[in-house]
Amino acid sequence: MIPELGYVILAAGKGTRMHSDLPKVLQEVLGKTLLGYVFDALSHVPMSQVWTVIGFRAADVEMTFPQRQEHFVHQAEQLGTGHALMCAWDRITDGGVSHVCVLNGDTPHVPVDAISDLADACVASGAAMGMLTLRLDDPFGYGRIIRSADGCVKGVVEEKDFIAADHGGEIHEVNSGVYVFDVNRCSALLGLMDRDNAQREYYLTQMVSLCAAHNLPVVGVPFGSSDLLRGINSPRELVGFEESLRVKIVSGLLDAGVILRNRDSIVIGPDVAIAPGAEIVGPCEIYGKSRIERGAVIASHCWIKDSVLGPCQVKSFSHIEGSHLREEAIVGPYARLRPGSDIGEGARVGNFVEVKKSVLHKGAKAGHLSYLGDSDIGPGVNIGAGTITCNYDGVRKHRTEILENAFIGSNTALVAPVTVGAGALVAAGSVVTKNVPDGALCVARSRQTNLDRKKQTPQS
Ligand code: UD1
Ligand code: CA
Repeated sequence: MIPELGYVILAAGKGTRMHSDLPKVLQEVLGKTLLGYVFDALSHVPMSQVWTVIGFRAADVEMTFPQRQEHFVHQAEQLGTGHALMCAWDRITDGGVSHVCVLNGDTPHVPVDAISDLADACVASGAAMGMLTLRLDDPFGYGRIIRSADGCVKGVVEEKDFIAADHGGEIHEVNSGVYVFDVNRCSALLGLMDRDNAQREYYLTQMVSLCAAHNLPVVGVPFGSSDLLRGINSPRELVGFEESLRVKIVSGLLDAGVILRNRDSIVIGPDVAIAPGAEIVGPCEIYGKSRIERGAVIASHCWIKDSVLGPCQVKSFSHIEGSHLREEAIVGPYARLRPGSDIGEGARVGNFVEVKKSVLHKGAKAGHLSYLGDSDIGPGVNIGAGTITCNYDGVRKHRTEILENAFIGSNTALVAPVTVGAGALVAAGSVVTKNVPDGALCVARSRQTNLDRKKQTPQS
């Protein structure tokens, strides 16, 4: 019988070995935080059954995951992993779960199936506690598993307390940091943890020897020698894990039918969906919840996040975030699309054009050197080089509307809020402060005067 399982994620530590001011669990792998991986893996569990212990720069963690707000537990002082679990224990018992799985927040891969097998094994064998163990050629840094003659786990010795000679040599079976506890049977033992060790911390792993001392069996279920359950403690481990995940994602996409040229320099986040028949040239980075459809062609040196790309063309050196590019749109080279940009069917955004919170409808064109912010640009509109929407008055943002087939001459400033009517033509160099009616020719610039250079009198 599968027990009713709650989850506690230990995420309060500073991550001293990372040498960063960012809490370790907010370090990113392929653009996603370590804690984000853990949360996503547990997305099938009701949020009310997942408690996360935070401490070091807790406010930053809370701000990153506002939807989890009610299920954070604070560990004011980081006195060790055992202490972190103690901080969460009242919430667990109030939560009414029979068993709780404890995970380290610095281990992005959550072996969901193995955890449910571990919980089953605990119940079947009557164990008070279970853990997944790893077999590593180089166990440095990990807690070593001590088993008794009958194979039961009776202790874990942390790296800093481990002296190989005392155990008849090196031990290659280590603690993965994934545990299941029987809530009722472990409750009384929690308070018995002490700080009598090399780091003067409450080690969660002391629960193993406490169970053994109270004749409560502990099962250690081997998870093999996989690298997946390695914790991330240092920059080397962070980028090492990132590179192995990158290679896995790129290789999976190639197998599925995506053309990835110069693949060693293509970085794709774990939540990006790319359809077979899309084509990408590296170096290129695509992150977040981006979706790239069949027929999209993305040239080298692009950075894309949280965007949807239909069968369009993105030319080199474009930077695209929170945007939608529709069929046959052409963007770049050197385009910048900021969040809220919607580039319509066959529309064109050329070099050094910045677009923000703006829609370019079907066939609209902005070929060169423009800023289009908070605007709605109708079908067939042509935006001349150097056009700027002046959307900010220093206090508030205002919208610019340009209706279908209008033609905006080069170097025009559109002072929002303003509307340019359908089919209107705005002369180059205009500063448009008033609405332009449909079909009008708007000239909003000073008239040119040519003087005689010597006499400074008007010439004909
Ligand atoms: C821990 C285990 C070790 C195991 C390894 C697996 C202990 C004592 N050791 O070591 O046996 O082999 O994981 O990766 O548990 N944390 C808190 N509060 C604290 C301290 C830590 O929430 O006071 C959190 C950290 O944010 C981290 C997790 O607990 O996410 C593990 O802490 P870490 O210091 O990385 O433990 P390890 O030394 O890796
Ligand atoms: Ca760790």
